[in-house]
Amino acid sequence: MTEAAGQRVSSGLEGVYIAESTICKVDGQQGRLYYRGYPIDALSKNSDFEEVAYLLLYGKLPNRQELDGIRKQMAEARDLPRGVISIITEMSGKADPMDILRTAASSLSAYDPEVSDQSPEANLRKSIRIISRVSSIVATIGRINEGGSYVAPDKSMGHEENFLYMLNGKKPTERQLEIMKDMFIIHAEHSSNASTFGTMVAGSTLADIYSAITAGISVLKGPLHGGADEAALRMMKEIGSPNNTESYIEGALAGKKKIMGFGHRVYKTYDPRARIIKEYLVNLQPDASDEVKRYTEIALRAEKLMVDKLGQSHGIWPNVDFFAGPVYVAAGIPVELFTPIFAASRSAGWCAHMLEYWKNNKLFRPLEVYSGDIDLEYVPIENRK
Ligand code: ACO
Repeated sequence: MTEAAGQRVSSGLEGVYIAESTICKVDGQQGRLYYRGYPIDALSKNSDFEEVAYLLLYGKLPNRQELDGIRKQMAEARDLPRGVISIITEMSGKADPMDILRTAASSLSAYDPEVSDQSPEANLRKSIRIISRVSSIVATIGRINEGGSYVAPDKSMGHEENFLYMLNGKKPTERQLEIMKDMFIIHAEHSSNASTFGTMVAGSTLADIYSAITAGISVLKGPLHGGADEAALRMMKEIGSPNNTESYIEGALAGKKKIMGFGHRVYKTYDPRARIIKEYLVNLQPDASDEVKRYTEIALRAEKLMVDKLGQSHGIWPNVDFFAGPVYVAAGIPVELFTPIFAASRSAGWCAHMLEYWKNNKLFRPLEVYSGDIDLEYVPIENRK
C-alpha cells in the first residue's frame, strides 16, 4: 500500500477483498485449498472433472443421478459448431493457441440461442455447455496444430478421456488419463485469482457469460498467471542439462529475473497444488521417458535451490505451474497447450463465480488517485511546440 493524495492505493489490489464467496478457500499461510469445503487432496484422489464441475456450480457433491445428469449434459454439448472449427483452422499456425482459444471461445456465443437470457437457469445451462466446449476447443486447437483434422467427440467417454481422444484421435493410455484427471481437477478453481477477477469484472457489467469467460481467458494468458506453466517448462528446456540448473537459477536471480512457477500473491508457503503435482511427478519416474527424467531432475534441483534461498526468508515457494510441465510432457501434451488446458479446467471456476456473483451483482468500479495536471489552458495546434 502507498499513500497518495491522502488516499490509500492498494497496488495490484493486494490485500483487498472483492466479494464474499462459498466456492473456494485458499489458506495461504497453512498451504491448504478447499473447493466448497472439500480439501483438494481428497478431490484429486477420488473425483473426476464432471463431479468437480458439479460441486463448483451447485455447491454440493452430486448423488449418482445428479452426476449422470451433468455427465449427459456435458457430453451432449461437446461437438463444436462448424464455424468454430473454421476459426480454429484459419488461425492455426498463425496465432498462439491462447489467442485461438480466446477467439474460438468468444465465437461460441453465436451458436447459443440462450446467449442473451440472463436468468440463473439459463446461465447455469450455458455454464455447463461452456465448460464442456472449451475443452473441445482446446483439444481441436492441439489436433489441428499438429496437422490433423477435427475429431468428433465420443459421448460414451468421460470428460478427460474424450479430451485426449479429440486431441490425439485415439483412446488414451491409463497414465495419460490419470494425469489429465488430476490436472483438470487441480486447476478448476482458485478463488479470486486474476483471471477469475477479470471474468467477474466483465460479468459485473451484466455482459453475457461468453463475454465474461472470454475476459477470463485473456487474463489467464499472461506469464505472471496461467502462462507460467509454459514459461517454466521453456526454462527447463533452456537449462538443458541438470548440471546447469544451479548456475542458471543463480544467474537469473542475480540479474533480477523472476523464476517462473515460483511465488504467489496468497500462498506464503508451499502451494498444495504444487505438492500434489510434484508427488505425482516423482511417482511416475520409474516408467518415465529420458526427457521427463531430465526435466524432473532439473525441476527438483531448481526447487531445492529456490526453497533454500527464498522459501522461509521471502515466502517464495513453488506454485501450481512449476511441476506441471514435466507431468504434461509425460502425458504427451505439447507445451503450447499447457495454458489452454488450464483455461479448459478453470472455465468451471469462472462460471461458478459468475453464477454466484450475479445473485447479488454490483458493478466493479474502483478508483484511481489522479496525480496529473489540472485546469490546463487549451493550446491550438499551431501554437504548440
Ligand atoms: N522469482 C524470483 N523472485 C520473485 C518471484 C520469482 N518467481 N516471485 C516474486 N519474487 C520477488 C519479486 O522480485 C519481488 O522482489 P522485490 O521485493 O525485491 O522487488 C518480491 O518477490 C515480491 O514479488 P511481486 O511480484 O511484487 O509479488 P506479487 O505478490 O505480485 O507476486 C507473482 C505474485 C506475480 C505470482 C510472482 O510471484 C511472480 O511473478 N511469479 C512468477 C510467475 C508465476 O509463477 N506465476 C504463476 C502464479 S500461480 C498462478 O497464477 C496460476
